[in-house]
Amino acid sequence: MSLSFPLQPNPLPASDARVAEVLAHPGFGTYFTDHMAVATWTKGQGWQDDSIKPYGPFSMDPASAVFHYAQEIFEGMKAYRHADGSVWLFRPEKNAERFVHSAARLMLPELPVEDFLTACRELVKADVRWVPNPEGGEQSLYLRPFMMAFENFLGVRAAERALFCVIASPVGTYFAEGVRPINIWMTDEYSRAGQGGTGSAKCGGNYASSLIAQYEGYQQGCSQVLFIQPAGEHDVEELGGMNVFAVSEGGALVTPALDGTILHGVTRDSIITVARSLGLAVEERPLGASELRDGITSGEFVEAFCCGTAAVISPIGAFKSKAGEYALPPGSGAITMQIREAITDIQFGRAEDTFGWMHRV
Ligand code: COI
Repeated sequence: MSLSFPLQPNPLPASDARVAEVLAHPGFGTYFTDHMAVATWTKGQGWQDDSIKPYGPFSMDPASAVFHYAQEIFEGMKAYRHADGSVWLFRPEKNAERFVHSAARLMLPELPVEDFLTACRELVKADVRWVPNPEGGEQSLYLRPFMMAFENFLGVRAAERALFCVIASPVGTYFAEGVRPINIWMTDEYSRAGQGGTGSAKCGGNYASSLIAQYEGYQQGCSQVLFIQPAGEHDVEELGGMNVFAVSEGGALVTPALDGTILHGVTRDSIITVARSLGLAVEERPLGASELRDGITSGEFVEAFCCGTAAVISPIGAFKSKAGEYALPPGSGAITMQIREAITDIQFGRAEDTFGWMHRV
């Protein structure tokens, strides 16, 4: 039977004045709404106890398996307010499907796509006053669905109890720079994920393992780290928290192929579809780190950008590495911004949704 996530209203919601204050300067991932969606799963019984309830801490036993073996997955998606006040989700079924894929890889239970969508929709309905009015900016309500092992047991095996939850946070741009070009640190010293690993699953462990390289990047004045395969062909993989594209002088987009180590980004997929509809060529293929570096030096690559739900599409100004700095031509980025605008116009209802991507809440 499908879950319905009935509402248990928060008796102490934030005042309208507090919501307005937060929405004026939301930052990224700092403030949370009045409610959260929850459901629990028990082996043999399936999913139950679904509700939209007041946002608040969990009470967890120190022996809970997630603290020890990181059996956890998550998603990131956004709700957008259109000019007429209506609120919409962008391709939420893609997140729901990836959640099923990630759960299978981490041996967590499958949450049916329909239940995932109901949880997100009902949470947004309950907290609709927290969906920002973009007013020329790019504010939205970021949804963070996640699932974790919820059994108190120290043996290493798949947990027989799991918790699913969705929280929501009003957000502005992910990078402090806004949509200005960012620098990227290239590393082949650390690996985010290897063949057969969890790279194509959205699990917390992938992000935890990226942090050391990310901090090395910060020390070099970079906002993100780009992982290069440490062995073999030394191909470009993805950034700590987003996918990457390079744009050739002829206007073709090149992005690493989904080889099992890379996250199937919803924004990545949307960019490929929109770019092709604009008549641009897109190559999903192995991209060598030296091909990228040499291509920038020779002028073969004239733009690069990173993309993800949180980051949307952010232009890259330069790649830095121990071998040197590879800067994209200053002032470039016309194709990046053209694709960015095409996608954000659909998300915010400024352009017709010819792909059928938007779901009204
Ligand atoms: C997202 O883009 O939604 C992510 O989960 C990535 C993270 C850097 C916030």
